[in-house]
Amino acid sequence: MIYRIGEFMSRGTSLEEPQRENASVVRWCTRSDVSPLRYPGGKRKLAPFIADLISRTTVPIKLFVEPFAGGASVAISLLEANAVERIALSDLDTLVAAFWNTVFSSRASSLADRIYDCPITLGEWKRQKDLEPQTEFDAAFKCFFLNRTSFSGSLHNKAGPIGGMAQTSKYPIDCRFNRSKLAERIIELSTLRNRVQFVRKQSYYKTLGDVRRMKLFKEEPKSIAWYFDPPFFAKANKLYHKSFVASDHARLRAATDSVPGEWILSYDDHPDARSHYGGHPGFARVNLQYTARIDSQERLVATEVIVSSIIADLRSRGELNDSAAIIQLPRRRQNSLVSIGGRSVENATQAG
Ligand SMILES: C[S@@+](CC[C@H](N)C(=O)[O-])C[C@H]1O[C@@H](n2cnc3c(N)ncnc32)[C@H](O)[C@@H]1O
Repeated sequence: MIYRIGEFMSRGTSLEEPQRENASVVRWCTRSDVSPLRYPGGKRKLAPFIADLISRTTVPIKLFVEPFAGGASVAISLLEANAVERIALSDLDTLVAAFWNTVFSSRASSLADRIYDCPITLGEWKRQKDLEPQTEFDAAFKCFFLNRTSFSGSLHNKAGPIGGMAQTSKYPIDCRFNRSKLAERIIELSTLRNRVQFVRKQSYYKTLGDVRRMKLFKEEPKSIAWYFDPPFFAKANKLYHKSFVASDHARLRAATDSVPGEWILSYDDHPDARSHYGGHPGFARVNLQYTARIDSQERLVATEVIVSSIIADLRSRGELNDSAAIIQLPRRRQNSLVSIGGRSVENATQAG
């Protein structure tokens, strides 16, 4: 089956030449190992769509900020494909922030060594679960280890080990822990560290304030693009250490009125997402497919809501005349044709 992401963007337009070449984004985005973390609700598959969006801004994007970083697969995909010059990451979860700060530091090779050497046993899982990390390095390892050995990659206190406490399942605790591949990927990512503006452990709100105060790109404030991927409306408290209550969702909605730069936000397609953002001129829907373990059951999470200042601008310039389109993204293991920036490229998606 053929899906055309670009069809959405070019509908109603006069199919101009692409502003910037970013076909290589697709190659990176379809790598299943973009992020060393298995993140529940990870948005790797949205990366081609986001690349397409940011290729249509009025000025090229120099800094891409992911203030709900999690597995950070969108920021990393865009960076590796040179669709953006630099990235900045933050997350309120201490372990997640410690992980990314270590990956993009000179301690990355020590982290890789530890991954090569660590025991991958239930005993180590229990030890890591109870551990109070004394250093950022220990927190980074704890994040990685529990992410690779717990159900659905969840760092939540209640998440159990893959294979269960009895380890009687056909999937043992180490089945998602290909140590050499993962360690090599961490080394590979660490080479990008001079293109990482910052990694911080803090709320998205503080990151918005920090970037505003930094006064980056004073002449071209629109050189910054933000990707907000907050905790889900539904069940997020079962997936993440740090989740949102109703007032947090409302505060984020208000914050989007004054973002310093362009922005894209994704949400699970929940009635509350539609009530907060349905009237926004940058509202659209995208079909994604992934599974999450919720209440001991594997559930399919499908449609996402996307809201973006870029979509709103395109609509206001009359370059996009649809509303609330549902966009189908490529499924795993299928060869698909994805049109990025108006140009088509072959895209063989890989298994995740
Ligand atoms: C949906 S996940 C992000 C997934 C990520 N986009 C990916 O592709 O892997 C939401 C993240 O927001 C973080 N978070 C929760 N509350 C936050 C807050 N107030 N500020 C910043 N991050 C927060 C959680 O720790 C979690 O990592």
